[in-house]
Amino acid sequence: MNPRLTTLEPSLIRELNARKRPGDLDLGLGEPVLPPDPAALDAGLRWMAENGCRYSPNLGFPEVRAAVGTYLERPADEVCLTNGSQQALHLAMVTALDPERDEVLVIEPGYPAYAKIAQMLGLAVRTVGLDPERHFAPRADRVLGALRPQTRLVVLASPNNPSARIWPAAELEKLCAGLDDRWLVFDEVYRELYYTPEPPPRPVHARALLVGGLSKCASLTGLRIGWLGAPAELMPLVLRAHQLITTAASTYAQRVALEILTHGHAGDQRRIYRQRLGNLLEALRASALEFVEPEGAFYCLVRVGRPSLPAALELLEAKRVVTVPGVAFGAEGWLRLSWAGPPQEVREGVARLTEWSTTADRRSG
Ligand SMILES: Cc1ncc(COP(=O)(O)O)c(C=O)c1O
Repeated sequence: MNPRLTTLEPSLIRELNARKRPGDLDLGLGEPVLPPDPAALDAGLRWMAENGCRYSPNLGFPEVRAAVGTYLERPADEVCLTNGSQQALHLAMVTALDPERDEVLVIEPGYPAYAKIAQMLGLAVRTVGLDPERHFAPRADRVLGALRPQTRLVVLASPNNPSARIWPAAELEKLCAGLDDRWLVFDEVYRELYYTPEPPPRPVHARALLVGGLSKCASLTGLRIGWLGAPAELMPLVLRAHQLITTAASTYAQRVALEILTHGHAGDQRRIYRQRLGNLLEALRASALEFVEPEGAFYCLVRVGRPSLPAALELLEAKRVVTVPGVAFGAEGWLRLSWAGPPQEVREGVARLTEWSTTADRRSG
């Protein structure tokens, strides 16, 4: 068996979920619960009834690549449709790097799959942490200071999972200027879910690899549609790897995506999340909890100031609230709450977390 897989640590998100009992309040979710747009799903079905459900070209239907290209502000021939953005992450690392030589730098807190995909591919991985005292504000100098000659790829998400922070334009510019010819995987799967006045800035970098999809913004996690935007120099390898790994993204999913993108509907649910964020902030501000104010996505880090796995297990046991321990993301001492769910449940979850943290403080004090 492949030791690179047998030695990968199991997901803590799953561990917490496995202990969930019926009736527990679930603030551990990593996916939206809003219904998807039925018109887009119907349009995909109608297209297949008329045209069949055959393979698409390996990199995707030309019109779908063009629509994603417009969305990414890149030429259509620099786009590959994938089965979810997760597959685009894999495709980026498997094509851009040489496992004999190259190292990946993961910025933490970050999505746990980055390091695990790299490890599965036999790539060396290092991490660099953003400062918890500054609530994980994105900082180019921290990242650039951690680069070594063998570091050939840096991966980050903006908006971020779990910190919900967005890389500001000035920091992103500094980061790109210092990367030289290194790759930058820019995961923007939460791009449409931003609560700042402007959409999240994008990197201007010749070797940026844009990873995105419709899972989060359009409540389509189960559809499995995403994309990779890569410079022309990498596309021959993207084609080769994609062909071997999966042939092509799902024909149905691509037609649904085309409907959403051509009608400019990718950001339709932002308004609902903005309201939900207002509800969360009201509940958190009324508590004494320290938290990182979300700028995007639907997560929020709350400080517990002690090891997060036992804290999450205790909270689940004592108050029946599911959260994800920050240690899973490189944010030890914090819990990740997801506020994608119904507002009354999120309020109740925050109330129980506050009660629990006050009694826990009393016990330790
Ligand atoms: C930061 C980040 N990137 C990528 C993904 C993968 O999403 P999908 O494959 O559904 O597009 C997730 C899922 O939770 C995520 O949080």
